[in-house]
Amino acid sequence: HRTGDLSGRRIVVSAGGTREPLDPVRFLGNRSSGKQGIAIAEAARSRGAEVTLIAANLEVADPEGCDVRRVSTALELRDAVVAAAQGADVVVMAAAVADYRPVTVSDAKIKKDAGDGGLTLELVRNPDILAGLGSEPHSGTLLVGFAAETESDDEHLVELGRAKREAKGADLLVVNRVGWNEGFASDENAVVVIGAGGDVVTRAHGTKLSVAHDILDVVVSELTTTAR
Ligand code: C5P
Repeated sequence: HRTGDLSGRRIVVSAGGTREPLDPVRFLGNRSSGKQGIAIAEAARSRGAEVTLIAANLEVADPEGCDVRRVSTALELRDAVVAAAQGADVVVMAAAVADYRPVTVSDAKIKKDAGDGGLTLELVRNPDILAGLGSEPHSGTLLVGFAAETESDDEHLVELGRAKREAKGADLLVVNRVGWNEGFASDENAVVVIGAGGDVVTRAHGTKLSVAHDILDVVVSELTTTAR
């Protein structure tokens, strides 16, 4: 597959899902398995790239030949991505990052009340890591974002992707449909890649590895046409 077309390139990939602790034994998390991000890391490695994988609570084995840095929370992920992004050719934000985290993390396990009342959690916004990278000068670094959406209407999915690419200052935005039974834990995926000007650059479906290669084809073509 596209042998060596990423050699000499340094790629940072974030994968998995962040966990925001509530107390020593509980967290707020999401269903991202990390499979699509891992597939991108593996595919980039096999095409000759030097790959740094920022791994958030992966449910799958580490890919071989990548520099793996483990993180858990959104703030840890941000610090690791920002550090690794320095001088990188490409940053792919495939991780599912929690939009909110608990205001306080209890030192002791939160106990339930004697009564049967509910519990209210107070949350604060996490920084948007991709938007942060996109709003700072990042010449020479191609930024690739993901958007996992539950809309079933294709046109609407593309619209959401366009808006998200603009809002985050990403060069490419990969939209994929997720639901109770698709996207996250699955070994297959179907995506639409949005490029500059909101154009649909490519559509890909199949195994997460084959989708990863199709996304990297777009990355390689962007890297060469914009002479980074
Ligand atoms: O806004 P939304 O979460 O749908 O955006 C998804 C994209 O933004 C993904 O590329 C994800 O990794 C990134 N993201 C981020 N920081 C956040 C939330 C999402 O970088 N706090």
